[in-house]
Amino acid sequence: MCGIVGYIGAKPASNYLLEGLFRLEYRGYDSAGIAVQSGDTIAVRKKTGRVGQLAELLKASPVTGTHGIGHTRWATHGQPSDNNSHPHTGGNGEVVLVHNGVIENYATLRSQLQELGYVFHSQTDTEVVAHLVAHQLEEELKLGADPDSNATYLRAVELTLKQLKGTYGLGVLFRDKPGLLIAARLGSPLVVGVGKDEHYLASDASPLVGYTDKVVYLNDHEIAMITANSLEILHRDTGSQTPHIRVLEQTASDTELGQFEHYMLKEIFEQPTSIENAFRGRLDDDEATARFGGLNLDPQELRRIDRIVLTACGTSWHAGLVGEYIIEEFARIPVEVEYASELRYRNPPMSERTMVFAITQSGETADTLAAMRECKRKGHPTLAICNVVGSSIAREADGGIYLHAGPEVGVASTKAFTSQVTVLTLLALFMGRIRHLSYPAGQRMIANLRKMPDKIRQTLECHNRVKEIARKYYTAENFLYLGRLHNFPVALEGALKLKEISYIHAEGYPAAEMKHGPIALVDEQTPSVFVVPRCQIYPKVISNMEEVRARRGPIIAIACEGDDKVAELADDVIYVPDVDEYLQPMVTSVPLQLLAYEIALLRGCNVDRPRNLAKSVTVE
Ligand code: G6P
Repeated sequence: MCGIVGYIGAKPASNYLLEGLFRLEYRGYDSAGIAVQSGDTIAVRKKTGRVGQLAELLKASPVTGTHGIGHTRWATHGQPSDNNSHPHTGGNGEVVLVHNGVIENYATLRSQLQELGYVFHSQTDTEVVAHLVAHQLEEELKLGADPDSNATYLRAVELTLKQLKGTYGLGVLFRDKPGLLIAARLGSPLVVGVGKDEHYLASDASPLVGYTDKVVYLNDHEIAMITANSLEILHRDTGSQTPHIRVLEQTASDTELGQFEHYMLKEIFEQPTSIENAFRGRLDDDEATARFGGLNLDPQELRRIDRIVLTACGTSWHAGLVGEYIIEEFARIPVEVEYASELRYRNPPMSERTMVFAITQSGETADTLAAMRECKRKGHPTLAICNVVGSSIAREADGGIYLHAGPEVGVASTKAFTSQVTVLTLLALFMGRIRHLSYPAGQRMIANLRKMPDKIRQTLECHNRVKEIARKYYTAENFLYLGRLHNFPVALEGALKLKEISYIHAEGYPAAEMKHGPIALVDEQTPSVFVVPRCQIYPKVISNMEEVRARRGPIIAIACEGDDKVAELADDVIYVPDVDEYLQPMVTSVPLQLLAYEIALLRGCNVDRPRNLAKSVTVE
């Protein structure tokens, strides 16, 4: 949520700032802006709308300078407008900064600063921080602090941070101290890129790819004092830190669109590979189990676990629901799936034998991070199932399993979902095999998992059929998605995909529960998407379809190849390969991703950048 970039070195800053903002645009696209410093002049350019619009503005009104900051905004306080766009200026222009996060006590601070004579030009919480830094700087200088010393500016930032309640990732420039960039983090991620006589700043590592492969992830309560040639990191409690430089493995080609029109479509079609990458090297044929390098728990500790809590948000939460079914079935351990936003404030009884997994693509979702921290604080083994290496959740968890799905750029998550389901299936196998699951049953699971990339390839052949179906239904204003057992979470996920990118109201429901409410919505204009592959309660789902048909609701069915019975009942069928029940979600979710994509295209929506959403939600 909101993307921050910064540069300090010898090159024109605006090149990296703009490119970086393009790469971070998935974090928010309500407005964009940069500030570039040259001597004691800081030029600010900012504009409502996408980074592309900022680029146009910069063509018409260029800026020069070798250090600067930039921001792409997902609005929290104050609507998207030029005035509310970042960077914000404090005092009389002495301070210019960008911010990601939420300042909860901004209203009180704003009144105090207004009483001191500070004039506000925006409705944002960020402008409060800018004025406060300017105010603290003025106070320091009045007390005789050295205006030429970096320490004076650092102190102004430190004094400001002490007064803030909430979260922040900050990048700050000082008009009277050219050549200095200060960054600070609490709750909102920041990465410093280390180059030769230059440093970069970014909300995540993606803008740094191609510029440098040396990165330093800032931790909460750390402040970075950055010049072209030096990087000093200070922690609020422990003082000066040695920067821990890591090597970035991402390459520029990972985020290229290639032959695809949109990232979402590219990522849907990457699923045969991303699923394979999720199990590659983790299947142990000899012992008929899964192997993980990073769980950091020994078999004795794992055997003691008698309950698993999976916590996540959005699509990752849906993957957790699939995981619940599979883990309970194969490992016979009770699983609960908790919305992280609820779990972080709830106080459910959890015994010392409860293990917690945070499931997250980005590794930065604020609620998931907070829920994980709360569980960790209570002493539970807290692990992550995460895609982004080096993300906050990956670094703070006691251990975990990476998805290895490669960067997911489309705001609507697709390949991360199927990779999460794959990893949760591996976990079910692993936990099952240290408990009740037999050797042959473990072998069967392994053999089935190996077939999945091909099954997904076959599934993707439905794309043209999905296009036809999308053309038939894209004008509908309501959709129902219905499925049972393993395919109930798939129904939820299908509905979420459609809502996110086509802005059509869609509800996912367990098919039988439909009778307790949603059936009232069924009419000739409301299509119901039934996820009905062959399963143990297949005839029951067929009865649910009959109920909808009796009320003249159009039916789109996702069914197994050769299922003629479904074809008789449904108006339109998308066939998928037959796989074991626990593997069906990986297969049945794919046509639903494509359906949402095609409908959104026909409705003229921006599939990769849907309105009001952001890929990485780093605020509560
Ligand atoms: C946002 C994204 C969703 C994602 C959710 C959780 O809402 O738009 O696609 O599922 O955050 O994100 P995470 O990175 O924690 O999986």
